[in-house]
Amino acid sequence: MAKLSVKSIIKAKNERKLSVITAYDYLFAKLFNGEVDMILVGDSLNNSFGGRPDTLSATLDVMIYHTNAVCRGATDTFVICDLPFGSYLDESGALASALRVYQETPADAVKIEGGVVKAPLIKRLTENGIAVMGHIGLMPQFFRSEGFAVKGRAESDLERLIADAKAVEAAGAFAIVIEGVTADVAKKITEAVSVPTIGIGAGKDTDGQVLVWSDMLGFFEDFKPKFVRHYMQGAQAVRKAVKQYKEDVESGAFPAENEQY
Ligand code: KIV
Repeated sequence: MAKLSVKSIIKAKNERKLSVITAYDYLFAKLFNGEVDMILVGDSLNNSFGGRPDTLSATLDVMIYHTNAVCRGATDTFVICDLPFGSYLDESGALASALRVYQETPADAVKIEGGVVKAPLIKRLTENGIAVMGHIGLMPQFFRSEGFAVKGRAESDLERLIADAKAVEAAGAFAIVIEGVTADVAKKITEAVSVPTIGIGAGKDTDGQVLVWSDMLGFFEDFKPKFVRHYMQGAQAVRKAVKQYKEDVESGAFPAENEQY
């Protein structure tokens, strides 16, 4: 699969569905390279890589470190780096953070959580040549003020979410993540904008889907949100292999003759 550009990502809307997966390291990025349309270095790494309860303590330094590791493996895939909580409080802060990502990593774009309120920041970035993916709906960086409730159930949600999506699009974002939104509302948001929407827990009618790799491959076992599908039982496979290794070490079956110098 040839590496996509911002232009080809936008063009994909109405042509085909876009597949996005998160990655945090070189090894998995290399496995995903060329297999999906985009790789997101999400600040969800703070949860599933760092074992923290939320994304809020992820720093820009950490995001840059992991983005470089991912880019070394994902040589042929469009890579997006999440700007972490607190790194885009105002326009100049957002620009400074995004410039660091662009100058210190080969990432193709950054992602920013927020709709109407963050649109001026997104505009500042896109005007300065930085590709931005938006993120609306359930926004983990806002969970202390907004909680983790699915959006779209209250009557006022539809109008507000469409306004968010349109503001982000008008600010120049090339795609918009819609997280934790009822399927019917996500469909209407998707129809209201001309850039691709990438859903997570937002039903089947968005222009693409994104999943966190450790959810998708069954490595994260603490809980399974309704929208996650396990494409393999990663945790079970690892435990089985490690158990076998221990048994082989104890019995002397490992290493064999051909596994020694
Ligand atoms: O941090 C992340 O992994 C994300 C996705 C859930 C969209 O923002």
